Amino acid sequence: MTSKAIHYDFFPDDLQKEVRQAFYNVDFDKNIGERVFFENAGGSFRLKSVVEVDQYYAQFPDCPERQHETSLELKSVQHKGLDDIRLLLNAKSGSILPAYTASMAIFDVTGTIIENVPGTNVVTSCLEHPSAYDACAFYAKKTGKELRIAAADQTTGRIEVDAITKLIDENTCVLSIMYASNLSGAIMDLETIIAEARKIKPDLHIVVDAVQHAPHCLIDLEKTPVDAMNFAPYKFFGNRGVAFAYVSDRVAKLPHHKLIAKLENEWELGSPTPSDYASVTAVIDYICWLGSKFNDSADRRTLIEEGMTKIKYQEMALLDRMLNGTPEIPGMRHMKGITVHFDTEDLSKRDLILAVSVVGCDCDTLTKLYRDKSIIVYERVSSSPYSARMLESLSLDGVVRVSPLHCHGPEDVDKFLLVTKEILEGLII
Ligand SMILES: Cc1ncc(COP(=O)(O)O)c(C=O)c1O
Repeated sequence: MTSKAIHYDFFPDDLQKEVRQAFYNVDFDKNIGERVFFENAGGSFRLKSVVEVDQYYAQFPDCPERQHETSLELKSVQHKGLDDIRLLLNAKSGSILPAYTASMAIFDVTGTIIENVPGTNVVTSCLEHPSAYDACAFYAKKTGKELRIAAADQTTGRIEVDAITKLIDENTCVLSIMYASNLSGAIMDLETIIAEARKIKPDLHIVVDAVQHAPHCLIDLEKTPVDAMNFAPYKFFGNRGVAFAYVSDRVAKLPHHKLIAKLENEWELGSPTPSDYASVTAVIDYICWLGSKFNDSADRRTLIEEGMTKIKYQEMALLDRMLNGTPEIPGMRHMKGITVHFDTEDLSKRDLILAVSVVGCDCDTLTKLYRDKSIIVYERVSSSPYSARMLESLSLDGVVRVSPLHCHGPEDVDKFLLVTKEILEGLII
């Protein structure tokens, strides 16, 4: 299978089995029984290894700041986790901010920039998650700066480069833009956005919400040099209750909440939880293990690159099958009555998220019809504060979001397609 210049395919069968077995609850829900879970954008499958190390390190009472053996071990677990986060993002400098949620992290960083960096306007987009958007709106209002909002392209579901650059000028304090949309699945052309925006203002501060995108694609801060980027382990094969953000050196040093005695670039506030860091390392170990199936390098970043690239290819193959089907089962592109919004030929430009709707069937009902057939998807409707602004900006009343994960295989897609066909036939469109 190819999409533009990229050749992609499913994992070999044996590897597919191993990958599936690495996660909990891929096929089974304790309340439903056997089911297909295509709602990973709301919280992804957990790695078994994450749950294990999390439980293991949660048992120790020791403070990582002491000098006895167990404390030192916990401290080294924390340092390893921090190193792994840097490797994952390819962050060669800057600081890492741990937070309870990705929303808290982005509020903190956005506020620090808007309150301390000169400029009279703040640029963001209509597709942002409320955490990024509202942080811009809140601090712009607080500091008397103008809030400028880039519009989305109605066909691609993306914020196109010129939609952003036309809002930026020498007085822009910060640009806050998401890496990929958690509604349309469209990936922003971040490299070009950064390059073009900094042609207008060379020292522009840029904040990126990578919560949606990070579990699906390789991130490389060397290629996309921004000032902040957050991600949430619970959408990335890990745990709820912790999130991380990278902040660049210049942002790290801005006045921010920190203990006075600590270094000026320190963003950790209070006692760290060693199991949160051990869990991140378990996620990175898994990505490296996957990478090692295709690459015999001993270098951890090389294995991350390989692992994330193969995750992307597996997800493109799944997306391809969802859209085009097989000779036996029609894909959604060929089913009458269902619309896949923001569909593009080049699948490399999308995360594995589909926004679909069915003529004559509202999204709540459609989600329930899938649930009755043991398929979990999520209705994104305008009554939800998490969806209203984005839907309105894309001229939609609602969509059903379908979000599998790379550990799914072609058989899961086929189950979904057969149920979709049955639902459409039942609706007699
Ligand atoms: C794109 C995006 N950004 C940010 C968030 C916020 O994450 P959290 O709920 O962990 O704060 C989400 C959560 O759905 C998201 O999808």
